[in-house]
Amino acid sequence: MAKAVVDFWPPTLRAKYHLDDLVDPDIAKSNERNTKCPARENITTKLPKGWPLSLQSPLAWSTNSFHEESEHTYILSPLEIAEIDAALSRVKESRIDFDDIKKSTFVLPTLGASLQTLSHRVHNGCGFVVVRERIRLKIELIPPLVFPKYHHFDFEPVVHVTDAKWTGVNASERRPIFSNQAQPFHADIFCGVLGLYHLEEARSGGDTLLASSWTVYNELAATRPDIIHTLTQNDWVHDTFGCNPPYYQQPLLYNHAGKIILNFARRVLKGAPMTARSRDIRPMTEAQAEALDAVHFCALKHSLKVDMRSGDMCFVNNLAIMHSRSAFEDDEPHTRYVLRVWLNNPDLGWQMPPRLQLFWDRTFAPLDEVTDY
Ligand SMILES: [Fe+2]
Repeated sequence: MAKAVVDFWPPTLRAKYHLDDLVDPDIAKSNERNTKCPARENITTKLPKGWPLSLQSPLAWSTNSFHEESEHTYILSPLEIAEIDAALSRVKESRIDFDDIKKSTFVLPTLGASLQTLSHRVHNGCGFVVVRERIRLKIELIPPLVFPKYHHFDFEPVVHVTDAKWTGVNASERRPIFSNQAQPFHADIFCGVLGLYHLEEARSGGDTLLASSWTVYNELAATRPDIIHTLTQNDWVHDTFGCNPPYYQQPLLYNHAGKIILNFARRVLKGAPMTARSRDIRPMTEAQAEALDAVHFCALKHSLKVDMRSGDMCFVNNLAIMHSRSAFEDDEPHTRYVLRVWLNNPDLGWQMPPRLQLFWDRTFAPLDEVTDY
């Protein structure tokens, strides 16, 4: 029996964002137009109109910008850990659902103000922070791992990231987050703030690297403005891996409300070893492939390896900071296990262009018609 094709967009969002108008219906025409690499002599030497020559901000950091770990790492005090334990006890006694845990039900009299300061740093400072000291969240408060065999997309705010050998699913059918393979620089689609809670470390590898998109912008704007143009075009084909529609198009780089926003994941653009790109959608152009690689290698050049220990939480401004992971190996007592949490701060979160607002809605706005992808 033929497998049913899943709609990628819920009906409410299809209507709200006029999504049926945005899919390029003529693949042959698009192929003809887009597979032609621009002649080198025609490449532009100017930035798109209205885009900044350079971004001056604490967000525009590089590998050697930090002199002390305390500039990006916050160590919880015994008093603050006691506050977390007390709040956990209250939640358990009140039998509050995971979804109902919020400021008013998880009261942190002292730590709350410190977390607010850290959130400012994530949104308006260097764009990330590590919170350290074995935060012992009780595992029963965390939604259990549900491992979907053919799980190509997820909009779940909490996802387990581990080499899921124990599921019995062949490695070739597992997404990168359920493997031990390296992941190149990318942002997640979609959240304002990415939380990475390291429950356990691997025997070797599994390093988390961060890089500032604003630094990458500055370097490319100064040296390859044509790549900035390429990144801003609305013709990047994003694979939906067999859903309906088979792909959608949008830029990777935005200039909105005074912020430069880079939001892309290579997997939906190029496929990955474990999730091959759909064969019947338009291929990436040479200029796009070059731009993607330029972003990756520029990010690597300016990257920071974040010292993440078991129990640490890292919070990252997903609109301005890219992340990557090195390959890793587990053994019996050391199994790398990370909880990926997608967060949104309604007070400090950046304004988003409509295309990213669509993904914000898909992730955070309650939609009754959404089941599972
Ligand atoms: Fe990611």
